[in-house]
Amino acid sequence: MARISFRVPRLIGRSGMAAALAVLVAASPVAAASPGATGAGDPYFPLQGNGGYDVGHYGLNLRWDPATDRLDGVATIQAFATQSLSAFDLDLRRDLVVTSVSVNGERAAFTQPALLQQELVVRPRHSLAKGDTFTAVVTYGGIPPVITDPDGSIEGWVPTADGAFVVGEPQGSPAWYPCNDTPTDKAAFDVTITVPAGYTAVSNGEMRARPATRYGWTTFSWRQRQPMATYLATASVSHFVVTTGRTPGGIPWTTAVEPALTADSAPALAKLPAMVDYFTSVFGPYPFGSAGAIVMDAPAIGYALETQTKPIFPGAPDELTLAHELAHQWFGDSVTLRRWSDIWVNEGFAEWSSWMWSEASGGDSAQAFFDYYNSFDNTNDWLWRPVPADPGDAANIFNSAVYERGAMTLQALRVKVGDETFFRILRGWATQLRYGNASVEDFTSFAARVSHQDLTHFFDVWLRQPDKPTSW
Ligand code: ARG
Ligand code: ZN
Repeated sequence: MARISFRVPRLIGRSGMAAALAVLVAASPVAAASPGATGAGDPYFPLQGNGGYDVGHYGLNLRWDPATDRLDGVATIQAFATQSLSAFDLDLRRDLVVTSVSVNGERAAFTQPALLQQELVVRPRHSLAKGDTFTAVVTYGGIPPVITDPDGSIEGWVPTADGAFVVGEPQGSPAWYPCNDTPTDKAAFDVTITVPAGYTAVSNGEMRARPATRYGWTTFSWRQRQPMATYLATASVSHFVVTTGRTPGGIPWTTAVEPALTADSAPALAKLPAMVDYFTSVFGPYPFGSAGAIVMDAPAIGYALETQTKPIFPGAPDELTLAHELAHQWFGDSVTLRRWSDIWVNEGFAEWSSWMWSEASGGDSAQAFFDYYNSFDNTNDWLWRPVPADPGDAANIFNSAVYERGAMTLQALRVKVGDETFFRILRGWATQLRYGNASVEDFTSFAARVSHQDLTHFFDVWLRQPDKPTSW
């Protein structure tokens, strides 16, 4: 979503007057239109995201057939040009073949270059001026590719025994919809999915209309009003048992659980309302219009993901994993990492929060979790390395050091500054950076500011030095 809303008048008479234009260029920020960058500059994922525009809204109209795994889509993308653009990219895997693109209602030229796997290059009939809002419509279809990540795990639109498990962290979203796949370009979403009657398709946010069945196909419409990073979108499909309710604090929730998993999921899901309300009491208002969970049998995936409003689980969730994914709604989904190297601001916080849920609900205290991990000596690479402040490589972003050493960091901070100050830091962070992006450095300076303490040494030994911290 665009934070800047100033408008620059469209350049009239783009051709000719080269000399006059040269003077203009020298004297003012008005420049000739050029192509937007191919990537948004993330060192771990250089092709991810694009330059030159900011998306405000995605309208995805999808149809998926489990019998063939074919996905057909029309994506309507409303965006704001942050530079004058002769062309721009969207991220979309080439396995999904684009058949037409329009920009502002006019047919646009496009290519899906073989060398650039995930770039859809769009050249509008007329250049876009900096400050223009524009609508791009992309029609595409194919078998969504399953993406293998640098850490060996899989993501994207992943077929399961009875549907599709749809996840996009850190790079699966362009395997099912065209997007500006950078965590810094959040947008609102309307996702409409048509599946064979009997199936349920579940996406982020709230249901916008009653499901409608025609000729044996049912259409589900979902709306995510609050800003969402592209990697947090889902459109998962199965024969779900759907249950709705409200937390005692008033947050509506929806769970979608495969029938075979309802019994095993029940103990954890029964605590979902209390968890949402508890985290609200600690971190501040729940950032979205609803909460929930999606539970599927997806052993090939093997990890849960904090898909916005409805985290998704590849099997019946345990209580701590559910707490982790719900805490991500504040830390990760509302306050989102800026670059992938900043993964600690997502994972360290969600993991510590799951410890805190345990403490608050009568289980082991967060300090007991800390003490347990702290009993491992410095030779345990799995726990202490790579350092949470920058795990160094895309293959390491989900390492235990980011999660557990990362959670220990927050517990150590809690002890160092005291509960009153510590919870003020967390609540201030969640509230002041709501719907934004943040780096590790942003948090360390925020904590120092709120606590009025010099935390340089503290954060250095906990987040940046490779060895197990010994004094802080
Ligand atoms: N963010 C997820 C969590 O809550 C983990 C995602 C792992 N993704 C992956 N491609 N390995 O822990
Ligand atoms: Zn997590």
